[in-house]
Amino acid sequence: MLRTVTATRYVTPLREGGSLPGLMEADDLGTYVVKYVGAGQGRKTLIAEIICAGIARALSLPVPELVLVDVDPLLGRSEPDEEVQDLLNSSAGLNLGMDFLPGALGFDPLAHQVDATLASTVLWFDALVGNVDRSWRNPNLLMWHRELWLIDHGATLVFHHAWPRAQSWITKPYDVNGHVLSEMATATVEPELSDEQIRSALDDVPDVWLTDEPGFDGPDALRAAYVQQLIGRRDR
Ligand SMILES: Nc1ncnc2c1ncn2[C@@H]1O[C@H](COP(=O)(O)OP(=O)(O)OP(=O)(O)O)[C@@H](O)[C@H]1O
Ligand SMILES: [Mg+2]
Repeated sequence: MLRTVTATRYVTPLREGGSLPGLMEADDLGTYVVKYVGAGQGRKTLIAEIICAGIARALSLPVPELVLVDVDPLLGRSEPDEEVQDLLNSSAGLNLGMDFLPGALGFDPLAHQVDATLASTVLWFDALVGNVDRSWRNPNLLMWHRELWLIDHGATLVFHHAWPRAQSWITKPYDVNGHVLSEMATATVEPELSDEQIRSALDDVPDVWLTDEPGFDGPDALRAAYVQQLIGRRDR
C-alpha cells in the first residue's frame, strides 16, 4: 500500500511537465511533485505511474517514493493562474505524489554514464511496460546524488485505453530506436519479476481509480486484467 498524506500548501506549478504537475508540501513535512487526477490525461496515467513504480522497485530500479496526496482545492486559492485553479478544483481528493528530489538534474546521455547492467535493465523494464517516453529528447530520467532515477511512467500500459483490444498489446514489439539508453544497454540481463510482484504493484492502486471501468465487475477484476496483461508480456 502507498502512504496517504494530506497536502498543506501548493508551492508552484512545474511548467516543464505537459500535465502541469505541481509542487506541494504535505502534512508529513515532505515535498512532492503532484500529478492531478483532474488533468487532461486523467486517472489512467496515474494508475500507470503506480504500477510501473511498483514493477521498477521489484526490479531494484531506482524510483522516487510515491504517495497518495489528499488535496483540498482551497489550497489553490492564492494561485493567480486560472489553469492551476481549474486543475485543483477538478482534483479534490486523492492525487499522486512523487517524492521531490531537490537539485536533481535531467539526465544527459552525453554527460552522464550509466552502468551497462542498469541501462539494460531499464530497457527491459521499458519494453515490458511499453514506455515510449524515454527518448533522447525527453528521457524522463534524473540524476540525483550521483544516481540515476526513473520518473514519469504515465504514458505506459496503453492497452488500458482500449480494453477490448488489450490482447494485441501483449505481443506488440518494442522499438528501442531512440531510447536514450539503447547504446549503453550492452549487457545481457534476465531480470526476475514474479507474478506476486506484479500483483503487489496492482495492490498499490487505490480502488477509487479502478471503479466504473466498462466491462469490469469492480476494482479487483480490473486489477486481475492488468496482472494478466503484464504476465503475458513478461512471458512472451
Ligand atoms: N520527483 C522529482 N524530483 C525532481 N524533479 C522532478 C520530479 N518529478 C518530475 N520532476 C521534474 O518535472 C518535470 C516534469 O515531470 P514529468 O515528466 O513527470 O511530468 P509530465 O507532465 O508527465 O511531463 P511530460 O509529459 O511533459 O514528459 C521533469 O522533467 C523533471 O524536470
Ligand atoms: Mg516527463
